[in-house]
Amino acid sequence: MAVPEIRRVGVVGLGAMGSGIAQLAVETGYETVGREVTEELGEKARERIAHFLGRKVEKERLTAAERDDALGRLTLTTELADLADCDLVVEAIVEELGAKLELFAELERIVRADAILATNTSALSVTEIAGAVSTPERVVGMHFFNPAPLMPLVEIVRAELSSDDAVEAAFAVGERLGKRPIRCHDTPGFVVNRVLIPLLNDCIRVLDEARVSAGDLDTAMTAGAGWPMGPCTLVDLVGIDVHVHASEALYEKIREPRMAPPARIVAMKNAGLLGRKSGRGFYTYE
Ligand SMILES: NC(=O)c1ccc[n+]([C@@H]2O[C@H](COP(=O)([O-])OP(=O)(O)OC[C@H]3O[C@@H](n4cnc5c(N)ncnc54)[C@H](O)[C@@H]3O)[C@@H](O)[C@H]2O)c1
Repeated sequence: MAVPEIRRVGVVGLGAMGSGIAQLAVETGYETVGREVTEELGEKARERIAHFLGRKVEKERLTAAERDDALGRLTLTTELADLADCDLVVEAIVEELGAKLELFAELERIVRADAILATNTSALSVTEIAGAVSTPERVVGMHFFNPAPLMPLVEIVRAELSSDDAVEAAFAVGERLGKRPIRCHDTPGFVVNRVLIPLLNDCIRVLDEARVSAGDLDTAMTAGAGWPMGPCTLVDLVGIDVHVHASEALYEKIREPRMAPPARIVAMKNAGLLGRKSGRGFYTYE
């Protein structure tokens, strides 16, 4: 399958991930069309992007003119049809298979036959999502990490029927966005989450087994294992609910007990202790 030169990028869903991906795209110089379900949500995303680009101007990492040019490359819409001219569309909507299948089927009717369709899913099967279209060779995973503008990694995920050209084109876009892309196959959790989720669950179980405090466990892993951040600090940052959800999704697919969320963290989620975002998790935040 011949893939087009990527000039125009579509981003569908401008929440936490999509707005970060759109920010990267406009900063890199891509004409970018962002689709949200309402104009208000689209405007919120634009404000968020403008805010982060403004911070870069303050820190002298970007000139005011570069910021204005970048924002000028962003077009917002609520109409999927406005993505017709995109060479690459990155989907970053809610993590629900039904919604993604519906979206990909609609996208196939709208975009050119050679446009690449990428999903930012964390836990769903890219191959299953590609099943929504009659041209699954153009579907790949582009799994960015949160926050997308800051985290260097993007996992370029080859689904069962992805073409080499689509994978390589997505990889090249990852590089152009200033990321460190890696290639992997479509398996549960891809690479980072497959390794990190059971490891973090082990850490949480050790809290009870070794009767160690969260602070001491974090010290153990930073001072003794060279981790840049302790596991409790990391799970608080990711969000307790997000971690529980990711663990459940991985456990459902791999069925290894280590993948399942430990009882302690499920209880925290049920009690609304969600980490940094709720002000309380393993630690308390101002
Ligand atoms: N948050 C993370 O840490 C993270 C990291 C990597 C990947 N992901 C994945 O990225 C995707 C998005 O996650 P998020 O955290 O940004 O979610 P989010 O809830 O912050 O954003 C999702 C956005 O999509 C919009 N949306 C829903 N349906 C839509 C549609 N049909 N068209 C356009 N917009 C639509 C919603 O209005 C919302 O603003 C998910 O698949 C998630 O698994 C998330």
